[in-house]
Amino acid sequence: MRDITAIYPGTFDPITYGHIDIIKRASKIFNRIIIAPALDNAKTPLFSLDERVQIIHEEITCLVCADKLEVIPFRGLLVDFAKVQGASVLVRGLRAASDFEFEFQLAYMNHKLDGDIETIFIPANEKGHFISSSFVKQIAKLNGDVSNFVSANVERKLRRHYDV
Ligand code: COA
Repeated sequence: MRDITAIYPGTFDPITYGHIDIIKRASKIFNRIIIAPALDNAKTPLFSLDERVQIIHEEITCLVCADKLEVIPFRGLLVDFAKVQGASVLVRGLRAASDFEFEFQLAYMNHKLDGDIETIFIPANEKGHFISSSFVKQIAKLNGDVSNFVSANVERKLRRHYDV
């Protein structure tokens, strides 16, 4: 167990079982993990930042590793946020090979911006390989079954948003 603060950044719109799997596994490596929903990225999230923070809190409180987890949203550059939080590691989940190029670029750019920051990749488990928040939203919007991908709590919130 490393006494290192790690950041797990993302959009989390919404948090899925795939994200939870990465969080659980990262908690076996690091003592403190900051789950960090981003305000600034190219996406236009369905859930507001406050909603995403609240949902993440609701999803992680029941985890065995909850005492190692914090949820802190950020805006601006991820490396600046990491510095302020005293974090030296970024955790990213890798699903399919198609994730690799983007993730490799992101890790490279972040390391260029701050040479003290390292990215570690955790391979998604077999169930998480093809989950994405966008697919989950699309299925929920069309009143499909998303229970294999998100909790009942998240599913309820999606249905409320889409009024289905
Ligand atoms: N299980 C399920 N889904 C997963 C997953 C897993 N293990 N890992 C990733 N995903 C999905 C997400 O649901 C998401 O799906 P979507 O595209 O349908 O929404 C997708 O994979 C990737 O999203 P995410 O991991 O949330 O990353 P992102 O690309 O949305 O955001 C940031 C990346 C927030 C880390 C990046 O934009 C950032 O750092 N922004 C801050 C600005 C900055 O510093 N930029 C400099 C970069 S050089």
